[in-house]
Amino acid sequence: MSASIIDGKAFAEGLRGRIGAEVARLKSEAGLTPGLAVVLVGEDPASQVYVRNKGAATEAAGMLSVTHRLAADTSEAAVLDLVAKLNRDPAIHGILVQLPLPAHIDEARVTQAIDPAKDVDGFHLVNVGKLQTGDASALVPCTPQGCILLLRDAVGDLSGKRALVVGRSNIVGKPMAALLLAENCTVTIAHSRTQDLAGECGRADIVIAAVGRARMIRGEWIREGAAVIDVGINRVPAEGGKTRLVGDVDFDGAAARAGHITPVPGGVGPMTIACLLRNTLIAACRSRNLPQPEV
Ligand code: GUN
Repeated sequence: MSASIIDGKAFAEGLRGRIGAEVARLKSEAGLTPGLAVVLVGEDPASQVYVRNKGAATEAAGMLSVTHRLAADTSEAAVLDLVAKLNRDPAIHGILVQLPLPAHIDEARVTQAIDPAKDVDGFHLVNVGKLQTGDASALVPCTPQGCILLLRDAVGDLSGKRALVVGRSNIVGKPMAALLLAENCTVTIAHSRTQDLAGECGRADIVIAAVGRARMIRGEWIREGAAVIDVGINRVPAEGGKTRLVGDVDFDGAAARAGHITPVPGGVGPMTIACLLRNTLIAACRSRNLPQPEV
């Protein structure tokens, strides 16, 4: 089999367009402009790029975008004060504190200080608990949510499928497993101590790779016709002293066997920001008891 390539970039553009249309409707019909505040502490270069991209995407969707850039030596108390202010601000419906934070700031304390109703990352324990218990009012972490949207689009009904999640992080692996369970998949979580990863992959109709190790999932492990979602973004040396991005899956080998596969880049990556906008839109609608838009 030769896999059909899941075009996450195109899907994310479509989703962002639908969100933008919904924002325009909310503005004109309800006088509501969804607002997202992003907090960046310090000068981490990768974080600066992410935060700039998030701000640009938020504006492009017609939302209010507010970015707070704080010096690397900002105290934890000052960050908590800012979060408290944003929690109270009626123009702000979503709050994202970019991670990692400088070492002197307790990430968990800051994450848990965000109002769960504005927690568009879905990292607050209230949202983690809601996701685990199947409460539809959860705000769901963006990357796994993006994977589910791509899977539903490519595969259709996921019910009864055997899904393997490789990786058990709080940001991707664990919420991914909860979302697949909610889709009625039979879910396995594999990790660094898993004894027979090749065998687990070979039984899976759906493989989600989220380990952060370049091309660790070998093509020959993939079951014929499986759907492969690659969350990994790894920079590796390339020809001419350059570098390039590859996923956690050996793409060429897996594409020869899979039914559907996401490329890196251009697969899951663009979905994360689109789902951040989706969560902000959802949070804004809930703040006014408006029905949750289907986007
Ligand atoms: N840093 C890298 N990824 C993320 C993310 O999804 N959310 C936040 N807040 N910080 C990040």
